[in-house]
Amino acid sequence: MYTVATENFDGYIHVDNLMKKALKEGTTEEEIKEAYVAWSKTYEKDILNQGYGGPAVAAEQLVQKLKEFGYTNDARILDLGCGTGLVGEELKKYGYKTIDGVDLTPELLESAKAKGIYGLLQQGSMGSPECKDLGIGANQYDATICVGTLALAHVKSEGLDDLVHVVKPGGLVCFSIRDLSLNAPQSGYREKMDQLCEVGKWKFVAKHHQAAYLTDDGKWFFVYQKVEIA
Ligand SMILES: C[S@@+](CC[C@H](N)C(=O)[O-])C[C@H]1O[C@@H](n2cnc3c(N)ncnc32)[C@H](O)[C@@H]1O
Repeated sequence: MYTVATENFDGYIHVDNLMKKALKEGTTEEEIKEAYVAWSKTYEKDILNQGYGGPAVAAEQLVQKLKEFGYTNDARILDLGCGTGLVGEELKKYGYKTIDGVDLTPELLESAKAKGIYGLLQQGSMGSPECKDLGIGANQYDATICVGTLALAHVKSEGLDDLVHVVKPGGLVCFSIRDLSLNAPQSGYREKMDQLCEVGKWKFVAKHHQAAYLTDDGKWFFVYQKVEIA
């Protein structure tokens, strides 16, 4: 098990408690949305003050691989679980011009909108059967990025299908998952990642591990490539 590094951090503790509850009895999408609505006004200030670096690390990983795979900064990128837009801010630093975002929580989307970085920004839910609640058509983007959102109590392992769904064949998928969530048997993330390889939906490109913020566990950053249609 892991411990949270600070006690005096109400917004995060609420979300963290839901993650612990998910290990025992499960949680609902409504509960996680309520937690983020309650946290929406201070989310960004809180986590940045605590040294949250996930968006910067993920953006660096994705950009490195986009370049290696021959994409320019004209690549179309979708930020899934974009929240207040921290990932968009990082991608903009590298000169990417087309960044869209989807998130469950309208209050966070409003903050993202105010940054003027994203093109399309819309509410949608990851993890639904056949990606029907995401609101984004298949094969639309050169890459997708998803940071801090594939987690216990947040998006189920089926959310990985949404990542594959939105990118064009040959496009890149970048996401983070904390050790806690990856290693929890009930999360099913590992199995789903392997299954997508086995059925030929994506192939592994790279992974990178680093200490997580606020907790004593770590965080993985993965990059996969959607398999080209033969
Ligand atoms: C820890 S925040 C990460 C936000 C942003 N990516 C960042 O790094 O700052 C988790 C995000 O997941 C979103 N979320 C939770 N469940 C979701 C779902 N089923 N579909 C889409 N977004 C979801 C929340 O609204 C929240 O914005």
